[in-house]
Amino acid sequence: MARQIPETGREWIAILDYGSQYTQLIARRIREMEVYSEIVSCETTAAALRENPPMGVILSGGPNSVFEDGAPTVDPAIFELGVPVLGICYGMQLMSQKLGGRVVPGESREYGKMPIEVMPGNPLFEGVPSTVIVWMSHGDRVEAIPASFERGAVSATCPFAAMYDNAKRFYALQFHPEVVHTQYGTEILSNFVFRVCGCTKSWNLGDWVANTVEQLRTRIGEDEVVLGLSGGVDSSVVAVLLNKAIGRRLHCIYVDNGLGRYREPEQVEEMFRKNIGLDLTIARAAPRFYAALKGVDEPEAKRKIIGRLFIDVFAEEARRFRHCRYLAQGTIYPDVIESRSPRKGPSQTIKSHHNVGGLPADLKFDLVEPLKELFKDEVRAVGRVMGMADELLDRQPFPGPGLGVRILGEVTEEKVKMLQLADLRVQEEVRKLPDYKTIWQTFAVLLPCRSVGVMGDQRTYEYTCAIRSVNSVDAMTADWTRLPYDTLATMSNRIINEVRGINRVVYDISSKPPATIEWE
Ligand code: XMP
Repeated sequence: MARQIPETGREWIAILDYGSQYTQLIARRIREMEVYSEIVSCETTAAALRENPPMGVILSGGPNSVFEDGAPTVDPAIFELGVPVLGICYGMQLMSQKLGGRVVPGESREYGKMPIEVMPGNPLFEGVPSTVIVWMSHGDRVEAIPASFERGAVSATCPFAAMYDNAKRFYALQFHPEVVHTQYGTEILSNFVFRVCGCTKSWNLGDWVANTVEQLRTRIGEDEVVLGLSGGVDSSVVAVLLNKAIGRRLHCIYVDNGLGRYREPEQVEEMFRKNIGLDLTIARAAPRFYAALKGVDEPEAKRKIIGRLFIDVFAEEARRFRHCRYLAQGTIYPDVIESRSPRKGPSQTIKSHHNVGGLPADLKFDLVEPLKELFKDEVRAVGRVMGMADELLDRQPFPGPGLGVRILGEVTEEKVKMLQLADLRVQEEVRKLPDYKTIWQTFAVLLPCRSVGVMGDQRTYEYTCAIRSVNSVDAMTADWTRLPYDTLATMSNRIINEVRGINRVVYDISSKPPATIEWE
Protein backbone atom coordinates (compact mmCIF):
# COMPACT_ATOMS: atom_id res chain seq x y z
CA MET A 1 0.00 0.00 0.00
CA ALA A 2 1.42 3.35 -1.03
CA ARG A 3 2.06 5.73 1.81
CA GLN A 4 -0.26 8.69 2.05
CA ILE A 5 2.08 11.47 3.09
CA PRO A 6 5.87 11.69 2.96
CA GLU A 7 7.63 9.88 5.78
CA THR A 8 10.47 12.25 6.16
CA GLY A 9 10.33 15.64 7.79
CA ARG A 10 11.31 17.43 4.59
CA GLU A 11 9.65 20.67 3.52
CA TRP A 12 6.86 19.89 1.07
CA ILE A 13 3.73 21.04 -0.71
CA ALA A 14 0.73 18.69 -0.59
CA ILE A 15 -1.41 18.37 -3.70
CA LEU A 16 -4.83 16.88 -3.09
CA ASP A 17 -5.77 14.95 -6.21
CA TYR A 18 -9.27 15.48 -7.55
CA GLY A 19 -8.47 13.53 -10.69
CA SER A 20 -7.44 16.20 -13.19
CA GLN A 21 -5.21 15.01 -16.00
CA TYR A 22 -2.93 17.89 -15.01
CA THR A 23 -2.41 16.96 -11.34
CA GLN A 24 0.97 15.38 -12.00
CA LEU A 25 2.04 18.50 -13.85
CA ILE A 26 1.46 20.63 -10.75
CA ALA A 27 3.79 18.40 -8.76
CA ARG A 28 6.40 18.43 -11.49
CA ARG A 29 6.32 22.20 -11.87
CA ILE A 30 6.87 22.63 -8.14
CA ARG A 31 9.69 20.13 -8.03
CA GLU A 32 11.30 21.95 -10.94
CA MET A 33 11.40 24.92 -8.56
CA GLU A 34 13.47 22.69 -6.25
CA VAL A 35 10.66 22.33 -3.76
CA TYR A 36 9.42 18.84 -2.92
CA SER A 37 5.77 18.14 -3.60
CA GLU A 38 3.65 15.03 -3.38
CA ILE A 39 0.24 14.14 -4.68
CA VAL A 40 -2.03 12.70 -2.00
CA SER A 41 -5.58 11.42 -2.17
CA CYS A 42 -8.34 14.04 -2.05
CA GLU A 43 -9.65 12.15 0.95
CA THR A 44 -6.56 12.99 3.00
CA THR A 45 -7.64 14.55 6.27
CA ALA A 46 -6.20 17.51 8.14
CA ALA A 47 -5.27 15.08 10.92
CA ALA A 48 -3.17 13.02 8.50
CA LEU A 49 -1.46 16.15 7.19
CA ARG A 50 -0.66 17.29 10.71
CA GLU A 51 1.68 14.29 11.10
CA ASN A 52 4.06 15.97 8.71
CA PRO A 53 2.63 19.41 8.01
CA PRO A 54 3.14 20.68 4.49
CA MET A 55 4.17 24.27 3.78
CA GLY A 56 1.06 24.64 1.65
CA VAL A 57 -1.85 22.68 0.25
CA ILE A 58 -3.07 22.69 -3.34
CA LEU A 59 -6.52 21.42 -4.28
CA SER A 60 -6.16 20.19 -7.87
CA GLY A 61 -8.63 20.38 -10.71
CA GLY A 62 -10.90 17.46 -11.50
CA PRO A 63 -13.53 16.19 -13.91
CA ASN A 64 -16.47 16.33 -11.47
CA SER A 65 -19.03 19.00 -10.78
CA VAL A 66 -19.47 20.02 -7.15
CA PHE A 67 -23.21 19.48 -7.73
CA GLU A 68 -22.90 15.78 -8.50
CA ASP A 69 -23.93 13.23 -5.91
CA GLY A 70 -20.81 11.77 -4.38
CA ALA A 71 -18.52 14.41 -5.90
CA PRO A 72 -15.18 14.42 -4.07
CA THR A 73 -14.97 16.95 -1.29
CA VAL A 74 -12.39 18.33 1.11
CA ASP A 75 -11.97 17.90 4.85
CA PRO A 76 -13.04 21.38 6.08
CA ALA A 77 -10.43 21.16 8.84
CA ILE A 78 -7.79 21.60 6.15
CA PHE A 79 -8.82 25.27 6.07
CA GLU A 80 -7.95 25.46 9.75
CA LEU A 81 -4.45 24.02 9.50
CA GLY A 82 -3.02 27.52 9.31
CA VAL A 83 -1.15 26.77 6.09
CA PRO A 84 -1.81 28.48 2.75
CA VAL A 85 -4.29 26.76 0.44
CA LEU A 86 -4.49 27.16 -3.33
CA GLY A 87 -7.53 25.85 -5.20
CA ILE A 88 -7.19 25.24 -8.92
CA CYS A 89 -10.31 24.93 -11.11
CA TYR A 90 -12.43 22.25 -9.35
CA GLY A 91 -10.34 23.11 -6.29
CA MET A 92 -11.52 26.72 -6.55
CA GLN A 93 -15.15 25.70 -6.85
CA LEU A 94 -14.82 23.41 -3.86
CA MET A 95 -13.13 26.11 -1.84
CA SER A 96 -15.81 28.60 -2.72
CA GLN A 97 -18.59 26.17 -1.87
CA LYS A 98 -17.04 25.21 1.48
CA LEU A 99 -16.23 28.76 2.55
CA GLY A 100 -19.57 30.38 1.76
CA GLY A 101 -19.39 31.44 -1.89
CA ARG A 102 -21.79 30.42 -4.64
CA VAL A 103 -21.01 28.10 -7.52
CA VAL A 104 -23.33 27.82 -10.50
CA PRO A 105 -23.50 25.07 -13.08
CA GLY A 106 -22.09 26.15 -16.43
CA GLU A 107 -24.31 25.89 -19.50
CA SER A 108 -21.35 24.76 -21.54
CA ARG A 109 -17.78 23.82 -20.84
CA GLU A 110 -15.23 26.60 -21.25
CA TYR A 111 -12.16 24.99 -22.71
CA GLY A 112 -9.00 26.51 -24.15
CA LYS A 113 -7.02 29.73 -24.11
CA MET A 114 -8.74 32.77 -22.65
CA PRO A 115 -7.49 36.26 -21.78
CA ILE A 116 -7.99 37.36 -18.17
CA GLU A 117 -7.55 40.69 -16.49
CA VAL A 118 -5.57 40.56 -13.28
CA MET A 119 -6.44 42.77 -10.26
CA PRO A 120 -3.70 44.35 -8.14
CA GLY A 121 -3.25 43.13 -4.56
CA ASN A 122 -3.03 39.40 -5.18
CA PRO A 123 0.51 38.17 -4.39
CA LEU A 124 0.06 35.30 -6.84
CA PHE A 125 0.08 37.82 -9.67
CA GLU A 126 3.20 39.67 -8.52
CA GLY A 127 5.30 40.33 -11.64
CA VAL A 128 2.48 39.22 -13.96
CA PRO A 129 1.17 41.71 -16.58
CA SER A 130 -2.38 43.00 -16.16
CA THR A 131 -3.69 40.93 -19.07
CA VAL A 132 -2.55 37.35 -19.66
CA ILE A 133 -3.75 34.36 -21.64
CA VAL A 134 -4.61 31.37 -19.47
CA TRP A 135 -5.77 27.80 -20.01
CA MET A 136 -9.36 27.21 -18.94
CA SER A 137 -11.12 23.88 -18.66
CA HIS A 138 -14.27 24.02 -16.59
CA GLY A 139 -18.06 23.71 -16.67
CA ASP A 140 -19.23 25.21 -13.36
CA ARG A 141 -18.06 28.60 -12.21
CA VAL A 142 -17.96 30.72 -9.09
CA GLU A 143 -20.78 33.28 -9.19
CA ALA A 144 -20.22 34.82 -5.75
CA ILE A 145 -17.04 34.58 -3.71
CA PRO A 146 -16.97 33.91 0.05
CA ALA A 147 -17.34 37.05 2.19
CA SER A 148 -13.70 37.41 3.25
CA PHE A 149 -12.37 36.98 -0.30
CA GLU A 150 -11.52 39.52 -2.97
CA ARG A 151 -11.73 39.24 -6.72
CA GLY A 152 -8.32 38.29 -8.14
CA ALA A 153 -8.99 38.23 -11.88
CA VAL A 154 -11.83 38.42 -14.35
CA SER A 155 -12.47 37.13 -17.87
CA ALA A 156 -15.21 37.79 -20.41
CA THR A 157 -17.16 34.74 -19.27
CA CYS A 158 -15.92 34.31 -15.73
CA PRO A 159 -16.69 37.03 -13.17
CA PHE A 160 -14.18 35.43 -10.79
CA ALA A 161 -11.28 33.94 -12.72
CA ALA A 162 -9.31 34.15 -9.46
CA MET A 163 -10.07 35.00 -5.83
CA TYR A 164 -8.02 35.42 -2.68
CA ASP A 165 -8.09 36.04 1.04
CA ASN A 166 -4.69 37.41 2.06
CA ALA A 167 -5.40 37.28 5.79
CA LYS A 168 -6.11 33.54 5.79
CA ARG A 169 -3.70 32.91 2.90
CA PHE A 170 -6.34 31.23 0.72
CA TYR A 171 -5.98 31.58 -3.06
CA ALA A 172 -7.93 30.18 -5.95
CA LEU A 173 -7.64 30.14 -9.73
CA GLN A 174 -10.31 29.12 -12.19
CA PHE A 175 -7.60 28.34 -14.76
CA HIS A 176 -4.62 25.98 -14.84
CA PRO A 177 -1.29 27.68 -14.06
CA GLU A 178 0.54 24.33 -14.44
CA VAL A 179 -0.22 24.04 -18.16
CA VAL A 180 2.27 25.55 -20.63
CA HIS A 181 -0.52 27.44 -22.44
CA THR A 182 -0.99 29.66 -19.39
CA GLN A 183 1.30 32.66 -19.73
CA TYR A 184 3.24 33.34 -16.53
CA GLY A 185 1.86 30.08 -15.10
CA THR A 186 5.22 29.20 -13.57
CA GLU A 187 5.49 32.67 -11.98
CA ILE A 188 2.00 32.29 -10.49
CA LEU A 189 2.82 28.91 -8.97
CA SER A 190 6.22 30.12 -7.86
CA ASN A 191 4.61 33.11 -6.12
CA PHE A 192 2.41 30.71 -4.22
CA VAL A 193 5.27 28.40 -3.30
CA PHE A 194 7.87 31.01 -2.32
CA ARG A 195 6.07 34.28 -1.49
CA VAL A 196 2.98 32.83 0.14
CA CYS A 197 4.13 29.49 1.58
CA GLY A 198 7.69 30.64 2.27
CA CYS A 199 9.33 27.49 0.91
CA THR A 200 13.07 27.32 0.40
CA LYS A 201 14.80 25.54 -2.46
CA SER A 202 15.51 22.30 -0.68
CA TRP A 203 14.80 19.56 -3.23
CA ASN A 204 17.93 18.68 -5.08
CA LEU A 205 18.73 15.45 -6.82
CA GLY A 206 22.43 15.44 -5.94
CA ASP A 207 21.50 15.29 -2.25
CA TRP A 208 18.80 12.77 -3.08
CA VAL A 209 21.37 10.37 -4.57
CA ALA A 210 23.68 10.67 -1.56
CA ASN A 211 20.82 10.20 0.93
CA THR A 212 19.24 7.35 -0.99
CA VAL A 213 22.51 5.45 -1.30
CA GLU A 214 22.96 5.83 2.47
CA GLN A 215 19.39 4.70 3.20
CA LEU A 216 19.75 1.68 0.89
CA ARG A 217 22.98 0.70 2.66
CA THR A 218 21.33 0.92 6.04
CA ARG A 219 18.21 -0.94 4.99
CA ILE A 220 19.91 -3.75 3.10
CA GLY A 221 22.77 -4.20 5.53
CA GLU A 222 24.63 -7.41 4.71
CA ASP A 223 21.72 -8.86 2.70
CA GLU A 224 21.66 -9.29 -1.07
CA VAL A 225 19.37 -7.98 -3.79
CA VAL A 226 18.09 -9.35 -7.11
CA LEU A 227 17.10 -6.95 -9.87
CA GLY A 228 15.43 -7.56 -13.21
CA LEU A 229 17.29 -5.35 -15.63
CA SER A 230 15.27 -4.50 -18.75
CA GLY A 231 17.65 -2.19 -20.59
CA GLY A 232 15.24 0.69 -20.01
CA VAL A 233 15.92 3.86 -18.05
CA ASP A 234 14.28 3.02 -14.72
CA SER A 235 15.78 -0.38 -14.02
CA SER A 236 19.19 0.84 -15.25
CA VAL A 237 19.15 3.76 -12.81
CA VAL A 238 18.11 1.41 -9.99
CA ALA A 239 21.04 -0.85 -10.91
CA VAL A 240 23.55 1.98 -10.75
CA LEU A 241 22.14 3.29 -7.46
CA LEU A 242 22.24 -0.14 -5.84
CA ASN A 243 25.68 -0.76 -7.23
CA LYS A 244 26.82 2.37 -5.42
CA ALA A 245 25.14 1.22 -2.24
CA ILE A 246 26.01 -2.49 -2.07
CA GLY A 247 28.33 -3.27 -5.03
CA ARG A 248 28.53 -6.97 -5.90
CA ARG A 249 25.79 -7.91 -3.46
CA LEU A 250 23.44 -6.78 -6.22
CA HIS A 251 22.61 -9.53 -8.73
CA CYS A 252 21.06 -8.42 -12.01
CA ILE A 253 19.11 -10.64 -14.34
CA TYR A 254 18.47 -9.64 -17.92
CA VAL A 255 16.06 -11.80 -19.89
CA ASP A 256 16.96 -11.80 -23.56
CA ASN A 257 13.59 -12.61 -25.10
CA GLY A 258 14.81 -12.04 -28.65
CA LEU A 259 12.31 -9.18 -29.01
CA GLY A 260 14.52 -6.29 -27.94
CA ARG A 261 16.00 -3.45 -29.92
CA TYR A 262 18.91 -4.02 -32.28
CA ARG A 263 21.86 -5.58 -30.37
CA GLU A 264 20.23 -4.82 -27.07
CA PRO A 265 21.62 -7.81 -25.12
CA GLU A 266 25.13 -6.96 -26.31
CA GLN A 267 24.71 -3.34 -25.27
CA VAL A 268 23.36 -4.29 -21.87
CA GLU A 269 26.31 -6.60 -21.38
CA GLU A 270 28.81 -4.01 -22.53
CA MET A 271 27.41 -1.25 -20.39
CA PHE A 272 26.56 -3.06 -17.19
CA ARG A 273 29.02 -5.93 -17.00
CA LYS A 274 32.07 -4.41 -18.67
CA ASN A 275 31.70 -0.70 -17.87
CA ILE A 276 30.01 -0.74 -14.51
CA GLY A 277 31.14 -4.15 -13.33
CA LEU A 278 27.74 -5.42 -12.22
CA ASP A 279 27.10 -9.05 -11.42
CA LEU A 280 24.90 -9.67 -14.45
CA THR A 281 23.22 -12.85 -15.62
CA ILE A 282 21.93 -12.82 -19.17
CA ALA A 283 19.25 -15.44 -19.70
CA ARG A 284 19.52 -16.21 -23.39
CA ALA A 285 15.97 -17.27 -23.99
CA ALA A 286 15.27 -15.96 -27.51
CA PRO A 287 14.80 -19.44 -29.04
CA ARG A 288 12.24 -20.30 -26.35
CA PHE A 289 10.27 -17.16 -27.11
CA TYR A 290 10.34 -17.73 -30.88
CA ALA A 291 9.24 -21.34 -30.38
CA ALA A 292 6.38 -20.30 -28.09
CA LEU A 293 5.22 -17.65 -30.56
CA LYS A 294 5.26 -19.92 -33.60
CA GLY A 295 1.95 -19.84 -35.42
CA VAL A 296 0.38 -17.35 -32.99
CA ASP A 297 -0.97 -14.18 -34.56
CA GLU A 298 -3.58 -12.89 -32.13
CA PRO A 299 -2.18 -9.84 -30.24
CA GLU A 300 -3.49 -10.68 -26.78
CA ALA A 301 -2.38 -14.29 -27.10
CA LYS A 302 1.09 -13.10 -28.06
CA ARG A 303 1.22 -10.69 -25.12
CA LYS A 304 0.20 -13.44 -22.69
CA ILE A 305 2.75 -15.90 -24.03
CA ILE A 306 5.54 -13.33 -23.83
CA GLY A 307 4.50 -12.20 -20.34
CA ARG A 308 4.25 -15.71 -18.94
CA LEU A 309 7.46 -16.92 -20.46
CA PHE A 310 9.25 -13.85 -19.14
CA ILE A 311 8.15 -14.72 -15.61
CA ASP A 312 9.16 -18.37 -16.10
CA VAL A 313 12.63 -17.49 -17.34
CA PHE A 314 13.15 -14.81 -14.72
CA ALA A 315 12.01 -17.18 -11.97
CA GLU A 316 14.35 -19.94 -13.17
CA GLU A 317 17.28 -17.56 -12.93
CA ALA A 318 16.10 -15.92 -9.71
CA ARG A 319 16.00 -19.34 -7.98
CA ARG A 320 19.78 -19.28 -8.00
CA PHE A 321 19.49 -16.16 -5.87
CA ARG A 322 16.76 -17.35 -3.53
CA HIS A 323 19.09 -16.68 -0.60
CA CYS A 324 18.69 -12.96 -1.40
CA ARG A 325 16.29 -11.12 0.82
CA TYR A 326 15.31 -8.34 -1.58
CA LEU A 327 13.97 -7.83 -5.08
CA ALA A 328 14.55 -4.36 -6.52
CA GLN A 329 12.17 -2.76 -9.00
CA GLY A 330 12.20 0.38 -11.10
CA THR A 331 8.74 1.56 -9.99
CA ILE A 332 8.50 5.32 -10.44
CA TYR A 333 6.17 7.92 -8.96
CA PRO A 334 3.55 7.98 -11.76
CA ASP A 335 3.12 4.18 -11.30
CA VAL A 336 2.50 4.73 -7.60
CA ILE A 337 -0.01 7.49 -8.23
CA GLU A 338 -1.81 5.48 -10.91
CA SER A 339 -2.20 2.50 -8.65
CA ARG A 340 -3.84 4.48 -5.88
CA SER A 341 -5.81 6.93 -8.01
CA PRO A 342 -9.58 6.57 -8.15
CA ARG A 343 -9.21 7.26 -11.87
CA LYS A 344 -7.37 4.13 -12.92
CA GLY A 345 -5.86 4.36 -16.36
CA PRO A 346 -4.77 1.69 -18.79
CA SER A 347 -1.29 1.80 -17.27
CA GLN A 348 -2.62 -0.64 -14.70
CA THR A 349 -2.55 -3.41 -17.23
CA ILE A 350 0.18 -1.92 -19.38
CA LYS A 351 2.78 -2.51 -16.71
CA SER A 352 1.85 -6.12 -16.11
CA HIS A 353 4.64 -7.53 -18.26
CA HIS A 354 7.22 -5.38 -16.68
CA ASN A 355 6.96 -6.02 -13.02
CA VAL A 356 7.78 -9.40 -11.69
CA GLY A 357 4.84 -9.33 -9.29
CA GLY A 358 3.68 -12.68 -10.60
CA LEU A 359 6.64 -14.69 -9.27
CA PRO A 360 5.88 -18.25 -8.11
CA ALA A 361 5.13 -18.77 -4.43
CA ASP A 362 8.51 -20.36 -3.63
CA LEU A 363 10.23 -17.09 -4.52
CA LYS A 364 9.55 -14.60 -1.79
CA PHE A 365 11.41 -11.32 -1.68
CA ASP A 366 10.92 -8.01 0.07
CA LEU A 367 10.62 -5.17 -2.42
CA VAL A 368 13.13 -2.36 -2.82
CA GLU A 369 11.78 0.49 -4.97
CA PRO A 370 14.19 3.39 -4.62
CA LEU A 371 12.69 5.48 -7.44
CA LYS A 372 9.13 5.42 -6.29
CA GLU A 373 9.04 9.10 -5.35
CA LEU A 374 10.55 10.34 -8.60
CA PHE A 375 9.08 11.50 -11.88
CA LYS A 376 10.59 10.19 -15.09
CA ASP A 377 12.56 13.38 -15.76
CA GLU A 378 13.90 13.23 -12.21
CA VAL A 379 14.97 9.61 -12.75
CA ARG A 380 16.89 10.80 -15.80
CA ALA A 381 18.43 13.64 -13.80
CA VAL A 382 19.49 11.17 -11.09
CA GLY A 383 21.11 9.04 -13.78
CA ARG A 384 22.98 12.12 -14.99
CA VAL A 385 24.11 13.00 -11.46
CA MET A 386 25.55 9.47 -11.25
CA GLY A 387 27.38 9.90 -14.57
CA MET A 388 25.24 7.61 -16.73
CA ALA A 389 25.33 8.12 -20.51
CA ASP A 390 22.73 10.39 -22.14
CA GLU A 391 22.25 7.80 -24.83
CA LEU A 392 20.80 5.43 -22.25
CA LEU A 393 18.98 8.04 -20.19
CA ASP A 394 17.23 9.66 -23.16
CA ARG A 395 15.79 6.37 -24.32
CA GLN A 396 12.14 6.43 -25.16
CA PRO A 397 9.66 4.04 -23.53
CA PHE A 398 9.77 0.50 -24.87
CA PRO A 399 6.95 -1.97 -24.27
CA GLY A 400 7.57 -5.07 -22.14
CA PRO A 401 6.63 -7.46 -24.99
CA GLY A 402 9.02 -5.52 -27.24
CA LEU A 403 8.96 -6.13 -30.96
CA GLY A 404 6.44 -8.89 -30.31
CA VAL A 405 3.72 -6.22 -30.47
CA ARG A 406 5.34 -4.33 -33.35
CA ILE A 407 5.43 -7.29 -35.71
CA LEU A 408 1.82 -7.68 -36.67
CA GLY A 409 0.67 -11.27 -36.84
CA GLU A 410 3.06 -14.16 -36.37
CA VAL A 411 6.48 -13.33 -34.95
CA THR A 412 9.46 -15.09 -36.50
CA GLU A 413 13.16 -14.65 -35.93
CA GLU A 414 13.56 -13.46 -39.52
CA LYS A 415 10.95 -10.73 -39.05
CA VAL A 416 12.52 -9.67 -35.76
CA LYS A 417 15.89 -9.21 -37.48
CA MET A 418 14.24 -7.20 -40.26
CA LEU A 419 12.37 -4.94 -37.88
CA GLN A 420 15.42 -4.40 -35.66
CA LEU A 421 17.36 -3.13 -38.67
CA ALA A 422 14.50 -0.89 -39.80
CA ASP A 423 13.99 0.47 -36.29
CA LEU A 424 17.71 1.16 -35.91
CA ARG A 425 17.51 3.49 -38.92
CA VAL A 426 14.45 5.21 -37.50
CA GLN A 427 16.24 5.72 -34.17
CA GLU A 428 19.42 7.03 -35.80
CA GLU A 429 17.53 9.59 -37.85
CA VAL A 430 15.12 10.78 -35.18
CA ARG A 431 17.96 11.36 -32.74
CA LYS A 432 19.39 13.92 -35.15
CA LEU A 433 16.38 16.21 -34.64
CA PRO A 434 16.96 19.13 -32.28
CA ASP A 435 13.63 18.46 -30.56
CA TYR A 436 14.27 14.73 -30.17
CA LYS A 437 13.84 14.95 -26.42
CA THR A 438 10.34 16.38 -26.73
CA ILE A 439 9.11 13.39 -28.75
CA TRP A 440 7.52 10.67 -26.63
CA GLN A 441 8.22 7.71 -28.89
CA THR A 442 9.32 6.96 -32.43
CA PHE A 443 9.60 3.45 -33.79
CA ALA A 444 9.10 1.10 -36.71
CA VAL A 445 6.34 -1.48 -37.09
CA LEU A 446 6.39 -4.44 -39.48
CA LEU A 447 3.13 -5.10 -41.29
CA PRO A 448 2.17 -8.62 -42.25
CA CYS A 449 1.34 -7.74 -45.86
CA ARG A 450 3.61 -7.67 -48.87
CA SER A 451 3.37 -5.43 -51.88
CA VAL A 452 4.97 -5.10 -55.27
CA GLY A 453 7.92 -2.82 -55.89
CA VAL A 454 10.79 -2.40 -58.31
CA MET A 455 14.47 -2.30 -57.48
CA GLY A 456 16.90 -1.83 -60.37
CA ASP A 457 15.14 -3.78 -63.08
CA GLN A 458 13.85 -6.36 -60.68
CA ARG A 459 10.30 -6.79 -59.48
CA THR A 460 10.13 -7.10 -55.71
CA TYR A 461 7.37 -8.49 -53.51
CA GLU A 462 8.24 -7.55 -49.96
CA TYR A 463 7.03 -6.31 -46.58
CA THR A 464 5.81 -2.87 -45.58
CA CYS A 465 7.20 -1.00 -42.62
CA ALA A 466 5.20 1.68 -40.81
CA ILE A 467 6.87 4.51 -38.91
CA ARG A 468 5.08 5.62 -35.76
CA SER A 469 6.02 8.76 -33.87
CA VAL A 470 3.91 10.38 -31.17
CA ASN A 471 3.97 13.28 -28.76
CA SER A 472 2.38 12.66 -25.41
CA VAL A 473 2.54 13.70 -21.77
CA ASP A 474 1.52 10.49 -20.08
CA ALA A 475 0.76 7.97 -22.87
CA MET A 476 -2.95 8.17 -22.04
CA THR A 477 -3.51 10.39 -25.06
CA ALA A 478 -1.08 11.03 -27.90
CA ASP A 479 -0.89 12.98 -31.11
CA TRP A 480 1.18 11.91 -34.09
CA THR A 481 4.40 13.87 -34.41
CA ARG A 482 4.77 16.20 -37.37
CA LEU A 483 8.21 14.82 -38.24
CA PRO A 484 9.96 16.88 -40.92
CA TYR A 485 9.45 15.48 -44.43
CA ASP A 486 13.21 15.34 -44.91
CA THR A 487 13.62 13.14 -41.86
CA LEU A 488 10.84 10.86 -43.06
CA ALA A 489 12.41 10.75 -46.51
CA THR A 490 15.80 9.74 -45.11
CA MET A 491 14.24 7.09 -42.88
CA SER A 492 12.30 5.68 -45.82
CA ASN A 493 15.29 5.69 -48.21
CA ARG A 494 17.55 4.08 -45.69
CA ILE A 495 15.09 1.37 -44.72
CA ILE A 496 14.23 0.45 -48.30
CA ASN A 497 17.84 0.52 -49.49
CA GLU A 498 19.51 -1.01 -46.48
CA VAL A 499 17.03 -3.49 -45.03
CA ARG A 500 16.43 -6.57 -47.05
CA GLY A 501 12.80 -7.68 -47.23
CA ILE A 502 11.15 -4.25 -46.97
CA ASN A 503 10.21 -2.32 -50.11
CA ARG A 504 7.64 0.16 -48.82
CA VAL A 505 7.49 2.58 -45.89
CA VAL A 506 4.34 4.37 -44.66
CA TYR A 507 3.81 6.95 -41.91
CA ASP A 508 1.15 6.43 -39.25
CA ILE A 509 -0.91 9.61 -38.78
CA SER A 510 -3.41 8.41 -36.21
CA SER A 511 -3.83 9.86 -32.75
CA LYS A 512 -4.65 8.14 -29.48
CA PRO A 513 -7.57 7.78 -28.94
CA PRO A 514 -8.96 6.18 -31.01
CA ALA A 515 -5.72 4.46 -32.11
CA THR A 516 -3.21 3.29 -29.50
CA ILE A 517 0.48 4.08 -29.57
CA GLU A 518 1.57 0.50 -30.19
CA TRP A 519 -0.12 -1.34 -33.03
CA GLU A 520 -0.96 -4.44 -30.98
P1 XMP B 1 -0.61 2.05 -26.01
O1 XMP B 1 -0.24 1.15 -27.16
O2 XMP B 1 -1.50 1.40 -25.01
O3 XMP B 1 0.77 2.36 -25.25
O4 XMP B 1 -1.14 3.37 -26.45
C1 XMP B 1 0.91 3.29 -24.23
C2 XMP B 1 2.35 3.27 -23.76
O5 XMP B 1 2.64 2.06 -23.06
C3 XMP B 1 3.67 1.34 -23.71
N1 XMP B 1 3.28 -0.07 -23.68
C4 XMP B 1 3.75 -0.97 -22.81
N2 XMP B 1 4.68 -0.84 -21.83
N3 XMP B 1 4.41 -3.13 -21.29
C5 XMP B 1 5.01 -1.93 -21.08
O6 XMP B 1 5.85 -1.83 -20.22
C6 XMP B 1 3.47 -3.34 -22.24
O7 XMP B 1 2.93 -4.42 -22.42
C7 XMP B 1 3.13 -2.18 -23.04
N4 XMP B 1 2.25 -2.00 -24.07
C8 XMP B 1 2.37 -0.69 -24.43
C9 XMP B 1 3.75 1.89 -25.11
O8 XMP B 1 5.02 1.73 -25.69
C10 XMP B 1 3.37 3.34 -24.88
O9 XMP B 1 4.46 4.09 -24.41
